[in-house]
Amino acid sequence: MIDKIILGIESSCDETSASVVRNGREVLSNVISSQVDLHQKYGGVVPEIASRKHVELVVPVINQALEEAGITPDAIDAVGVTYGPGLVGALLVGLSAAKAMAFAWDKPLVGVHHIEGHIAANYIQHKELEPPFVCLVASGGHSHIVYVGDYDRFEILGRTRDDAAGEAFDKVARAVGLGYPGGPLIDKSAREGNPKAIDFPRVHFEKGCFDFSFSGIKTAVLNYLNSTEQKGEKYKVEDVCASFQSAVVDVLVTNLIAAAKKVKSPKVALAGGVAANSLLRNELMERAAKDGLEVFYPSPILCTDNAAMIACAAYYEFERGNVSDLYLNAIPGLKLGERR
Ligand code: KG4
Ligand code: ZN
Repeated sequence: MIDKIILGIESSCDETSASVVRNGREVLSNVISSQVDLHQKYGGVVPEIASRKHVELVVPVINQALEEAGITPDAIDAVGVTYGPGLVGALLVGLSAAKAMAFAWDKPLVGVHHIEGHIAANYIQHKELEPPFVCLVASGGHSHIVYVGDYDRFEILGRTRDDAAGEAFDKVARAVGLGYPGGPLIDKSAREGNPKAIDFPRVHFEKGCFDFSFSGIKTAVLNYLNSTEQKGEKYKVEDVCASFQSAVVDVLVTNLIAAAKKVKSPKVALAGGVAANSLLRNELMERAAKDGLEVFYPSPILCTDNAAMIACAAYYEFERGNVSDLYLNAIPGLKLGERR
């Protein structure tokens, strides 16, 4: 096999990232410049600040990725880039850089769907993993259960009807005064708390429906905090975190396993920022084992936004001849599988 080298670029939210990946699964470099510190004081990502920072960082990050991989642009076979979904101003920076490089170096351009990238992170982590499988993609902007029929075939089996799982983590963390981003902070605090202390709601829809709803649990947490304070009592942050996390994870795992059984998939995977959650991983391992399902998830660094996952997804698109032209535009609300 002749080696295929892909340069991946990701800038859909608040991480500027570039990566060089060989043959889809071998990461030669994965440079991630996070803007978390910059957005922390606002309690969330400020789109305009994110775009400006991407402009400053995108070229140095790409140069560093090439340098760390020990290659020059002539060794690259294609440039892969996230073109949606995400913040339009942020997406445009990575996309414009990718188009400029593809044009200047005379290399093909491959547009990648951000969620497809998150799913592909599993291929980097697990060299033996191949589709089909069912994947839960849970991040700050998305909560989807996806049937991955092939490297470029995706079918949504369930989705959130309101907040994304990561969004709920971030909002609850802010309400209990933990800061931003909330997921990792709740994960840590919950280890010291009692998951059975407070009975937060777990929303399930009719049988055979794998959708989620997280706005109710977020409101229930806020109501609990307010009513406790009004009674002049103190709540234990660790118990709130543990009980909230356990309710969210319960619903995520229940729906993922039910969806996998429905489509008779023996393999389930996690992806996206929330896939870094320790309870989610442990609970899925435990419950999936009872049904004989094999479980896959990426290492935490490959769960949150990074360009290696984009380069990996681009490799498989490139192999299938799914190449974009230089008119490719950023699509903030891009649907999974839309262009196919
Ligand atoms: O995939 P990602 O980096 O960016 C998006 O595409 O949104 O996901 C970020 C989200 C944030 O909401 C963050 O709070 C959540 O993932 N997250 C976690 C954990 N680590 C990150 N949620 C729960 N537990 C974690 N350990
Ligand atoms: Zn993401």
